[in-house]
Amino acid sequence: MVRPWIGLVVLSLGVVAAEPPKPVRVPLKAPHESTIPEGPVGEAIRLGQKVFTNTPLHAPKYSGNALSCSSCHLDAGKAPHAAPMVGLWASFPTYLPRAGRVGTMEDRINGCFLRSMNGKPLPTGSEEMRCLLAYVWWLSKDVPVGAEVVGRGNPPLQAPAPADPERGKAVYARACAACHGEDGLGSADVPPLWGPRSFNLGAGMARTSKAAAFVKANMSGLGGSDPLSAQDAYDVSAYFTHQPRPDFPDKVKDWPKGGKPADSRY
Ligand code: HEC
Ligand code: HEC
Repeated sequence: MVRPWIGLVVLSLGVVAAEPPKPVRVPLKAPHESTIPEGPVGEAIRLGQKVFTNTPLHAPKYSGNALSCSSCHLDAGKAPHAAPMVGLWASFPTYLPRAGRVGTMEDRINGCFLRSMNGKPLPTGSEEMRCLLAYVWWLSKDVPVGAEVVGRGNPPLQAPAPADPERGKAVYARACAACHGEDGLGSADVPPLWGPRSFNLGAGMARTSKAAAFVKANMSGLGGSDPLSAQDAYDVSAYFTHQPRPDFPDKVKDWPKGGKPADSRY
């Protein structure tokens, strides 16, 4: 006997399956240092924190430039709106559109090693990788699996008008050069924004929209300069991201399933 409603039930189940439930949102709260346990796990967490905050010193075989993870993931990965690591353990594995497949935390960390650090991937069993994982795990220990912290990523920013790198050059001179240098090469205390010791073309930060989001949220009004408008952030980002920087030869493998963003550099 034909029961037409069975089809309907199957159809609606299909719709439910296609839309995953929205993650629970929890406030960002980094655990206190005193909660790092004694013993080998605590030692791994502490070494992971060192790799994170001084990557060239503690992962010299894999780091390829002057940056540390914490140059962009500010306050040792604890700052909201600067792509914090707090709670991130609960969000991986996840689909990574640039890779066109589901990726683990290790895959994502190596994405930044290859691109943001212009370096080499950490082998899975390496001490550096195990310690970085321990650090992210500890930072995430109070966030339930599947939940997402408020302040994850860099808050997306819309440009009121198309970005103008010429205007951006003037914004750079008034709001950035005092720290990052007229030549963008940074100093002993400030990381470079371009040149051979900066992130490569494949990095998220090389995209104007991603850089503008980071800059507006984290680099506005520093050193006594006027706060940046959204347009200033776009203009200055169009300027500094397009200065000379290392290439990323593996870029040809990105976005294998399509969906390449319009401001990708290749
Ligand atoms: C030049 C800046 C820069 C540096 C240096 C950098 N990253 Fe990133 N990282 C980013 C950006 C940009 C994103 C994407 C954030 C977003 O999606 O909004 C990101 C994303 C991530 C993510 C995923 C975050 C999320 O919310 O899904 C992880 C994990 C990560 N980075 C780890 C690292 C580690 C570990 C290092 C050091 C080896 C590092 N990053 C160095 C810029 C950087
Ligand atoms: C008062 C000094 C200061 C000013 C002014 C400043 N920055 Fe930064 N910037 C820093 C420091 C320091 C870091 C690294 C953060 C850390 O290590 O904690 C950083 C990190 C960055 C990064 C990520 C790391 C890298 O090297 O790519 C970008 C991008 C950036 N700044 C862009 C800008 C832009 C654009 C401006 C101007 C609108 C600006 N900054 C103004 C001090 C400054």
